[in-house]
Amino acid sequence: MQAVPRREMAAKPSLSIEELALELSMARGIDEVTAVIRTHARDVVGADGITFVLRDGDECYYADEDAISPLWKGQRFPISTCVSGWAMLHREMVVIEDIYADDRVPHAAYKPTFVRSMVMTPVRRDDPVAAIGAYWRRRRRPSANELRTLRWIANSAAVALTNVALYESLKSARDEAVRAREAIVLAMASLAATRDNETANHVRRTQLFIRILAEAALSRNLFAPQLDAEQVDLMVKSAPLHDIGKIGIPDKILQKPGRLDADEIQVMKTHAEMGRAALETAERHLGVCTPFFQTAQEIAYSHHERWDGSGYPRGLKGSDIPLSGRFMALVDVYDALVSERIYKKPMPHADAVALIAGDSGRHFDPQLVDIFLEVEPEFAEISRLMSDEANLNPPRANAAS
Ligand SMILES: [Fe+2]
Ligand SMILES: [Fe+2]
Repeated sequence: MQAVPRREMAAKPSLSIEELALELSMARGIDEVTAVIRTHARDVVGADGITFVLRDGDECYYADEDAISPLWKGQRFPISTCVSGWAMLHREMVVIEDIYADDRVPHAAYKPTFVRSMVMTPVRRDDPVAAIGAYWRRRRRPSANELRTLRWIANSAAVALTNVALYESLKSARDEAVRAREAIVLAMASLAATRDNETANHVRRTQLFIRILAEAALSRNLFAPQLDAEQVDLMVKSAPLHDIGKIGIPDKILQKPGRLDADEIQVMKTHAEMGRAALETAERHLGVCTPFFQTAQEIAYSHHERWDGSGYPRGLKGSDIPLSGRFMALVDVYDALVSERIYKKPMPHADAVALIAGDSGRHFDPQLVDIFLEVEPEFAEISRLMSDEANLNPPRANAAS
């Protein structure tokens, strides 16, 4: 899942307390909450310094500050020895007119600083997770308005931190669901492959080939607007399911060492429709129409169509064939040609390239063949690195993600 970019803080415009609360409500990470406090809180309160302190177990971490001269940014203190710790443990705002007349203040830590008076406000009063410190260089009693403002900022920060926690847990639940789906996809695809003469590496190699071919097409702005980065990703992720329908083909046909007869070929051809139907059922159970299942169904149903209309199951022609199916057709055939099977020896890469080039406009989309001819050395490299004998990891970590 993609990381949420940290929003850049503007060059410190003056904000009202309402605007500051709004900024906090939009924060999507602790660093953003911290940045809002650092950038705007001091100005809103009218203090000489502001610190934002996070509770980290039994320690107080002075995460950030904005002050007329340095305070304790980046330092940690035991929760029992600092004022922010006192405020969090007692769930109370601490108002200190003269820090040198108050025993709760570790005077040595304040000696090198400008601070003479302060207010420390816990964030989330029922279970404080942070505190906001406001400091002044002179002994003074803060006004009721200043205290109200600090409470408001602390309350807004509490809501922001709760939002951040909810957002993080939603994000991690979504990441987990995506990882689970990818694992299930690969497991199902491997299951189909083990019943076939194909290997699990065929599934991974074709996935890598699709990425290479589709990224090359994207970089040349081909097939726009149909092909964009999201569609490339969908094709890569759903490609392993292209032959999932073969699970429904009887072993005696699927594992026959010799050539299939005409009847057996007809049975074998049903795997395209069976795959589409299985994925449609899965999508129905899910209860929502997702781009992933749509692309997976397209690929399963159309990867045996041919550009000239002589393919199956529907005999679609040219650009009537879904783009994902056209990509899959080319990479599937290439991998079958250069791989060894019980009934055949592997074809040399150069011969496979020549065969595919010769089938441009017949079996394959001519534009795709043109791109393939530009990137075919990368295909050769993947075939070498991920041959069925060499059970190696994918050469590009992101390709099989
Ligand atoms: Fe197939
Ligand atoms: Fe295949």
